[in-house]
Amino acid sequence: MDQPRRVVRVIEPRPVTEGAGVRLRRSIALPTLDHLDPFLLLDHFSSDNPDDYLAGFPRHPHRGIETVTYLLAGAVRHGDSLGNRGTIEGGDVQWMTAGRGILHEEFPEPRDGKLDGFQLWVNLPARLKLCPPRYQDFKAAQIPSLRTAEGASVRLVAGRLGDVQGPVSEIAAQPIFLDVELPPGGRFAHPIPDGHAAFAYLFRGEASVGGGDRIGSPRLAVLGEKGRLEAEAGAAGARFLLCAGQPFGEPIARYGPFVMNTRAEIEQTLRELAEGTFARS
Ligand code: FE2
Repeated sequence: MDQPRRVVRVIEPRPVTEGAGVRLRRSIALPTLDHLDPFLLLDHFSSDNPDDYLAGFPRHPHRGIETVTYLLAGAVRHGDSLGNRGTIEGGDVQWMTAGRGILHEEFPEPRDGKLDGFQLWVNLPARLKLCPPRYQDFKAAQIPSLRTAEGASVRLVAGRLGDVQGPVSEIAAQPIFLDVELPPGGRFAHPIPDGHAAFAYLFRGEASVGGGDRIGSPRLAVLGEKGRLEAEAGAAGARFLLCAGQPFGEPIARYGPFVMNTRAEIEQTLRELAEGTFARS
């Protein structure tokens, strides 16, 4: 646990268009990084041009995964087949466990001309893929914002920092989800259970991670399997997401917004959609 985790791969995000025409930067779910068990997808949406995102994500299904929406700026209006409605604002998080199925829509909106945020997909183990859907929604003020002795500012979405616990709980992957901002030359270290997968997504400035070469932004640094995260910011400071979670080591059968264990389970899901029985119970 005391050794720094080395960076084993650096992924350059690729531009993709999703939903009804939302332009994103994707760094997990790419030919270069299909998944990082238990993480299945990472999208960064960041734009000052509303044409990049106003078309949004009209009604679409999910099954077998959790989708995490974490916003820095702007907002995402959402609604679903269970009658839930709401708006995720800058600093808020929504951790949605789709389980056996949900049909929802998500529409990004600017605030002061800006939109900046992330969507992360976290896998569910086979035993929970058909669990009842569940939301954990937390407003910015409910997410602990901490300052370390070394000057790092940390927003704690999931996991523990010292005596403080992040609000997202009871997630199968036992995730760590931190938003870390470092001043120029600032350092941050954080324990990660050995064997848990981990990445740092650098989205501002640059940093050296695990004692390696400086990494610019935006870049996703995949960390090795053992030891703790260590990061040191460059002259302009740095800001990154630190995510870690327990791998499930199960087969992955992926089809768009569904991630199951077998092809037959995907086909069953598509049958339910065609028959109109999906997300009806
Ligand atoms: Fe969605």
